[in-house]
Amino acid sequence: MSDLSLFDLSGKKALVTGGAVGIGRGCAVALAQAGADVAILDLDTNVGPKTAEEIRAAERDSLFVPCDVTQREQVQDAVRQVAERFGRLDIAVNNAGIGILGADETFPQADWDKVIAVNLTGAFLCAQAEAQQMLRQGPIEGKIINIASMSANICNCNAAYNGSKAGVVQMTRMLAAEWGQYNINVNCISPSYVLSPMHASTPVVVRKRIRELTPLGHVQRPDDLHGAVIFLASAASNYVTGHDLVVDGGHTLNAWLTPLGRCVPPRVNPEEEIVQLKHDLDAMGLPYDQDGINPDVHPEIADAFKGAFGTE
Ligand SMILES: NC(=O)c1ccc[n+]([C@@H]2O[C@H](COP(=O)([O-])OP(=O)(O)OC[C@H]3O[C@@H](n4cnc5c(N)ncnc54)[C@H](O)[C@@H]3O)[C@@H](O)[C@H]2O)c1
Repeated sequence: MSDLSLFDLSGKKALVTGGAVGIGRGCAVALAQAGADVAILDLDTNVGPKTAEEIRAAERDSLFVPCDVTQREQVQDAVRQVAERFGRLDIAVNNAGIGILGADETFPQADWDKVIAVNLTGAFLCAQAEAQQMLRQGPIEGKIINIASMSANICNCNAAYNGSKAGVVQMTRMLAAEWGQYNINVNCISPSYVLSPMHASTPVVVRKRIRELTPLGHVQRPDDLHGAVIFLASAASNYVTGHDLVVDGGHTLNAWLTPLGRCVPPRVNPEEEIVQLKHDLDAMGLPYDQDGINPDVHPEIADAFKGAFGTE
């Protein structure tokens, strides 16, 4: 076995929740490129099937299964559909997530409940259904990867979002401790600010600030997670479990008092940062706004930045 075959996912069967666009789509593409067949589970019945079609066009099997991760029956049913089509399930990426902006002193309980339901309860319901499916198979070689966030460890959004992500990290650790006995590895990945549709309304002036405060000097793309997800899905990580793999270009190292300088250009330039974002917005039927405001996508985020950065 050559060293590179450690990362080979040929013949593996995977699913990605929230896989229609953004980080989930990036994870699905990465798994497919490494050889896996990949199912897309998502609420979005418009874009989800297109993403599955793209994977099939790249000569891996794929199917789209409509699924709201907050609904236990839907999750159980979706995992069964994937296992029926593929014959088994080896890899699952629990990525579906939302953020709702708002100050905590007035944050409505309904919004708190929504964020916790998708980000934390949804990830648990998925992990549970996936582990049950893996246990029905045998011999088990399962890899469950939850998408957490740097927000699990820093304070950058609000209590609901940051608390939900801290919950995902600790839930990951607990499930890893419990399910190691079955040879199911459970890990999570914590990205920083990723240019997905969730961050389509992060104006260019804010992107510039993120570059200045990130040692590796560019804003994160879904592609920047490809290596991490292939590692955690493959035999290369067989002895890694309960780990939170922070993939943030150094953003949370807190290395700065002033904007960081650079000696050489970053590996990724601003045009390259937005390649998948443009693709995703196009699939959603939305125009890309050169200023990065994209008021059709997340007007509340664009509004929130206006005060802080003086953007219009
Ligand atoms: N974008 C970032 O900067 C960033 C950073 C750190 C972590 N994250 C996390 O990464 C994950 C993906 O984020 P993204 O930026 O790609 O978001 P996104 O909004 O661009 O895409 C999210 C996808 O999840 C789907 N989805 C939402 N609710 C769902 C539900 N209840 N059931 C099934 N599917 C659902 C959406 O339809 C969409 O396809 C989330 O968990 C998010 O919290 C994002």
